[in-house]
Amino acid sequence: MARIMTLFTEMFDIRYPIIGAPMFLVSFEDLTVAVSEAGGLGTFPLPNYRTADDLKKALDTVRRATDKPFGVNIHLSGRFPWREQLALCLDYGVKFFITSLGDPALIVKDVHASGGKVFADVISLDQGVRARERGVDGLVAVGSGAGGHAGTVPTLILVPYLKDKVGLPVIAAGGVSTGAQMAASLAVGACAVIVGTRLIATPEARALPAYKQAVIEAGPGDIVFTDRITGNFANWLAKSIEKVDKRPGLGSKRWLDIWSAGQSVAQVEEIKPAAEVIREMAEDYFRVCRYLGSTLVDE
Ligand SMILES: Cc1cc2nc3c(=O)[nH]c(=O)nc-3n(C[C@H](O)[C@H](O)[C@H](O)COP(=O)(O)O)c2cc1C
Repeated sequence: MARIMTLFTEMFDIRYPIIGAPMFLVSFEDLTVAVSEAGGLGTFPLPNYRTADDLKKALDTVRRATDKPFGVNIHLSGRFPWREQLALCLDYGVKFFITSLGDPALIVKDVHASGGKVFADVISLDQGVRARERGVDGLVAVGSGAGGHAGTVPTLILVPYLKDKVGLPVIAAGGVSTGAQMAASLAVGACAVIVGTRLIATPEARALPAYKQAVIEAGPGDIVFTDRITGNFANWLAKSIEKVDKRPGLGSKRWLDIWSAGQSVAQVEEIKPAAEVIREMAEDYFRVCRYLGSTLVDE
């Protein structure tokens, strides 16, 4: 099968511009390896690992399983031992960092010195401009309907808006789970896409079976956008947050009991290996590109 060439695939020498989303308590080593081995770029969020030792073991596991590039999501706040985490990741050759909390300038110099890139999660133009001032290499445009914390602007509007006004490479996140949706994202200027919700329903995701099943059964109308779970706006499976409404104060167990997912549950029909999800997205992308080409009529 052909590869897809974008600025992002060239940056990391990968086949497809498909990033496996960092997902708290869901994406660990297995999913990361599966996505990277399938030609995309797997990632995990560093808060998934409580101690430096746990993180080192995870980095070891990924490195032993694949020589392909992979990435991490780093939280740059005093609540996280990010300096130690960064040093470990750089030691293990991690080249792709997504920042969510905190100031990306804290890591840009070190990441660049080791040949890596820093992209910042943003939901607005303000955040995009600020991230550019802090020296990032690109933005992750987190649109409405994304799993996890999300914005309010649809992905297909936010991507070209940020690209045009900020002038940095932009990755599309939110509601991308098929090749057609990837084609739409690339058409509006994204250099890659991040896939979260679709990858929850894979054997490699460390989500409870009932969570995977709930993602399969849900439609977009079953997703609730609220700040009442974490204090920041995020998308949740409605059924799972009913528990919180009945039992407030579940504390740090929340992310285990309460399930985040985005509106692209609409396109999740079954559990299948991550490699198949990536392959099908690529095949669908090629099909859509051929279809779009066939709509052109010379006159
Ligand atoms: C269960 C879950 C947990 C997430 N945790 C994180 C996280 O820890 N860090 C992060 O940057 N993004 C996190 N996200 C957001 C994803 O990285 C990604 O931006 C999003 O899932 C893309 O939208 P989609 O779900 O529509 O594919 C999470 C998403 C989900 C569904």
